[in-house]
Amino acid sequence: MLIRHPDPDDYTPIITVLNDWWGGRQMREMLPRLFFVHFRNTSLVVVEGNMMIGFLVGFLSQTCPNEAYIHFVGVDPVKRRHGIGAALYDHFFRLAREQGRTVIHCVTSPANTGSIAFHTRMGFTVEDGRSADGEPHVARGYDGPDQDRVRFVKRL
Ligand SMILES: CC(C)(COP(=O)(O)OP(=O)(O)OC[C@H]1O[C@@H](n2cnc3c(N)ncnc32)[C@H](O)[C@@H]1OP(=O)(O)O)[C@@H](O)C(=O)NCCC(=O)NCCS
Repeated sequence: MLIRHPDPDDYTPIITVLNDWWGGRQMREMLPRLFFVHFRNTSLVVVEGNMMIGFLVGFLSQTCPNEAYIHFVGVDPVKRRHGIGAALYDHFFRLAREQGRTVIHCVTSPANTGSIAFHTRMGFTVEDGRSADGEPHVARGYDGPDQDRVRFVKRL
């Protein structure tokens, strides 16, 4: 397994499997090619042989000089729960730290319970907290009408 930065040729293999990797959700519109052109230095792909088995798309905040943002992370369903997602995050945290970033943000859909569990395990906390029974606060309409999000933050 090798983790490297993507190049634009990695876009088609990733966008082709994206919706399947997200369980059939329509995710493609949220990941235009520009990320594989202009955010290569802070994005990552995982390859095994000639297979792409995971990726992370992230960037350094242009506005907040101590912050970075993870936009997408995905692992091939048959390769999950083997530490690949964690390896991608650890790599990104190191990279962000080297660039002077101490705060990482990301968001996920409230329905994506796997992602919420993963981010919690990776040391993220829910912005605006959780209810008494542990349900994460949901930012209603955060990404537009009916586009609710759970907002995560991690301090490195
Ligand atoms: C979320 C995702 C990237 C995790 O990748 P992964 O390679 O399976 O994660 P890891 O094996 O590195 O898991 C890291 C930790 O998170 C936990 N975790 C991962 N997925 C989990 C799940 N669905 N439920 C509960 N815990 C989970 C693991 O148990 C592990 O904890 P441990 O160290 O205590 O064992 C992967 O499930 C995925 O691609 N999901 C679909 C895309 C998605 O929803 N992305 C996130 C939103 S952009």
